[in-house]
Amino acid sequence: MSATNRNEDGGSYRLAAARELDRVEKDDAFVGFARRGRGGDPAFERSVTDVVAGVTRLRRRLDFLIDSLYRGDPDGLESGVRTVLRIGLYELLNTRTPAHAAINEAVETVRVYVHPRVTGLVNGILRSASRRMDDLPTPDTGDRVRDLGLLYSHPDWIVRRWIERYGEEAAVRLMEHDNRRPRHGVHVRGDGTAVLDALRSEGVAWEESPLVADFIRVDSVQPLVRSGLLRRGDVRIQDEAAAMVVRVLDPQDGERILDLCAAPGGKTLLAAETAPRARVTAADLHAGRLDLVRTSAERAKLENVDLRVMDARTPDEELTGVFDRVLVDAPCSGLGVLSRRADLRWRRSEEDIADLVALQDAIIDGAARCVAPGGLLVYATCTLEPEENERRVEAFLDRNDGFVRESCAPFIPDRLVDAEGDYLSLPFETGMDGAYAARLRRRVDAAES
Ligand SMILES: C[S@@+](CC[C@H](N)C(=O)[O-])C[C@H]1O[C@@H](n2cnc3c(N)ncnc32)[C@H](O)[C@@H]1O
Repeated sequence: MSATNRNEDGGSYRLAAARELDRVEKDDAFVGFARRGRGGDPAFERSVTDVVAGVTRLRRRLDFLIDSLYRGDPDGLESGVRTVLRIGLYELLNTRTPAHAAINEAVETVRVYVHPRVTGLVNGILRSASRRMDDLPTPDTGDRVRDLGLLYSHPDWIVRRWIERYGEEAAVRLMEHDNRRPRHGVHVRGDGTAVLDALRSEGVAWEESPLVADFIRVDSVQPLVRSGLLRRGDVRIQDEAAAMVVRVLDPQDGERILDLCAAPGGKTLLAAETAPRARVTAADLHAGRLDLVRTSAERAKLENVDLRVMDARTPDEELTGVFDRVLVDAPCSGLGVLSRRADLRWRRSEEDIADLVALQDAIIDGAARCVAPGGLLVYATCTLEPEENERRVEAFLDRNDGFVRESCAPFIPDRLVDAEGDYLSLPFETGMDGAYAARLRRRVDAAES
């Protein structure tokens, strides 16, 4: 057993993960925020985080298996026992932990976490799963959407939408993408030698981005944190799909650029760096989140970024008609980044989309007022849902004849351009996060709205 399996008190990372999972469920806390800033052994913390995120993503599938393999009434299973079973099954099915170790650790965890009397139950269910690895129970409810939702651990409403839009085969590939541990995009600034040395020294796999220069994909960012490269601003963590939005924006030196929903600042910083003699105003509704932009800009030694707390629906009067380029990276359902945000699929409901649409419309209208005649408005999201993407753009163009849609094709690879000329990253095709962006040009002769 590796030293990192246990913390200083002798508790295993499975026990810490069980506590974390139950706390997240009880407090309705966000997965991922829970253990931030705890200190402790980084490898131990990473194991806890991995298990918590993995179990959260696969929860529906794991519960289906537990309910199928348990001989009693599944509703009668104590919640702590179910949590440990979820962890044990997750390790059996989705990690390289040897079966005997996954089972023994689950038995030891439940002995401490719940009671010695339930060790036999946990042992029995996990052994049965391990014996049937090639022949695990499969859902057969008579409802194809529900069966796929149980098998691929997504809510039915998302499965239904994606099958209708992409067909079953692509919908399954999309769900498989969501269920994988995400890889991280890293923007390497300057000489990358130290970055590659840090990755090699800890045996972390990396590959060059096939789509964006100076970007690599890594399995873990820990070596970059530990070596101080992240703190010093030598690297920045950013998915290539987000970087592509800045390509669509195409910032130029000498321009005034406004990023209206800027925090935590990934796109602001890349824009400011791409055009170092542009002036970039980063605005966000939340002052606390804007502080994240400030810290990152300072770290990256970028002096061309101004900050402004502002509601994008009602931009400050003096910004009317001022900017050459305005970026709206709108609040959205986030259904393009479900692998990265482990609990999001369980938090979202279809009703959220209707609420978001109203906010998105109000934000694009506010943004449009800040664009100078002849200037550019880029509307972007990290969702795949048409109501939040192309339909928002079409509704905006119906309300505003002072703007026309332009193709994104000159700025990004052809395979990322959809039939309308907008940028669309479908994770099952690109391997990147899901993302969308459209370019909207304000006519030179457009009247002030
Ligand atoms: C998708 S995130 C932006 C991510 C950011 N562009 C980046 O690349 O790091 C959306 C942001 O919009 C902000 N937001 C939400 N409602 C807003 C509003 N009415 N006005 C301005 N910002 C808003 C949120 O605080 C959040 O930071």
